[in-house]
Amino acid sequence: MKEQSQSTKTNYDSRFNHEFSTDAIHAGEFENMSAIPIYQAATVDGQYLRSGNPTIDAFETRVKTLAQGSWGTATASGTSAISQVLTNLLESGSRIVCHHTIYMWTKEILNTYLAKFGVEVVYVDMTDLNQLKKAVKKKTDVIYFEPFANPTLDVIDVKSAIDIGKASGSIVVVDNTFLTPYLLRPLDMGADIVLHSATKYLCGHGDTLGGIIISKTERTGHQMDHIRNAYGGILSPQNAFLLLRGIETLPIRMELHCSNAQSVAEFLESHSKIKQVTYPGLPSSQGHEIAKTMVNGFGGMINFETIDHERHQQFLKKVTLCKPWVSLGDTQSLVIGQGGHNRIRMSVGLEAISDIIYDLDQALA
Ligand SMILES: Cc1ncc(COP(=O)(O)O)c(C=O)c1O
Repeated sequence: MKEQSQSTKTNYDSRFNHEFSTDAIHAGEFENMSAIPIYQAATVDGQYLRSGNPTIDAFETRVKTLAQGSWGTATASGTSAISQVLTNLLESGSRIVCHHTIYMWTKEILNTYLAKFGVEVVYVDMTDLNQLKKAVKKKTDVIYFEPFANPTLDVIDVKSAIDIGKASGSIVVVDNTFLTPYLLRPLDMGADIVLHSATKYLCGHGDTLGGIIISKTERTGHQMDHIRNAYGGILSPQNAFLLLRGIETLPIRMELHCSNAQSVAEFLESHSKIKQVTYPGLPSSQGHEIAKTMVNGFGGMINFETIDHERHQQFLKKVTLCKPWVSLGDTQSLVIGQGGHNRIRMSVGLEAISDIIYDLDQALA
């Protein structure tokens, strides 16, 4: 187990089968303190900041407890988590099989940087598990996907994809940013490594950047800590503090993100200026049936298409409450257009549902 230093020891023991929302508030807490202090120091009790710090350790303990992992490695951002994991697991001559739709900067890491060191990157449609089975017939080191893909919200059958990966001897890595451990816990389903952009729902308030790698085994966790030390991509103590605070309300925020998103998806699906809506909570969406058996809620992300380009442009200009910004998982509702299509990705926020729908309706009018 990763040790917390003597002065900051927690007396909270999550082994007493506490519920998720209790762990979200207490896991990693310090004795006799209502908040985790920010250790703004390059060295604490002999530990150098690039390898950890009591504030960062508390964040790692909290997320690893929620995700049911044995080790947490906090990183400067989600992309730094992704690049550190992939660089650690892959080498010249390695092969990685990914779902064809993943976060665009993950593709950039793979296609531009890892490919130049001779890593073979293969993209398949993992919503069709036969394609994955076929792809892993050739020796494959890593399988990588997002359960609800960014930005299309393709739904991957997580348990089956993990089983196929494990049967072929691959390491399975899941980017669980969209769902968070509140809605899905891939380590419980057999994944080896789960990572997050903590910038999104874990933070929840759009005020920091961060990432985390959660390893199923301590051995893998040590490797992840080691590469973080080598690359220097650690989370800052200030950001760890904000993330710890954000996570305390993760369960109630996710409940509201899910119910607001369901209402927005249903509203958009019946709107005359909308051609198509993808939200895994809609019976009409691909993967709805699998998602129903897999997640504790369908999340806050929606992808929809307007009837034409003019309406698409007008919508993005006319929204006022919903902001045309790139991030996701914040309290505010956020919308971004996707180049070349009339599609829009929406991160449904926590505002009153009547106000969100009013804004969308006036922007489409
Ligand atoms: C699914 C997913 N993974 C990773 C990232 C990268 O996270 P960060 O911006 O914290 O580097 C993002 C960012 O949007 C994302 O959507």
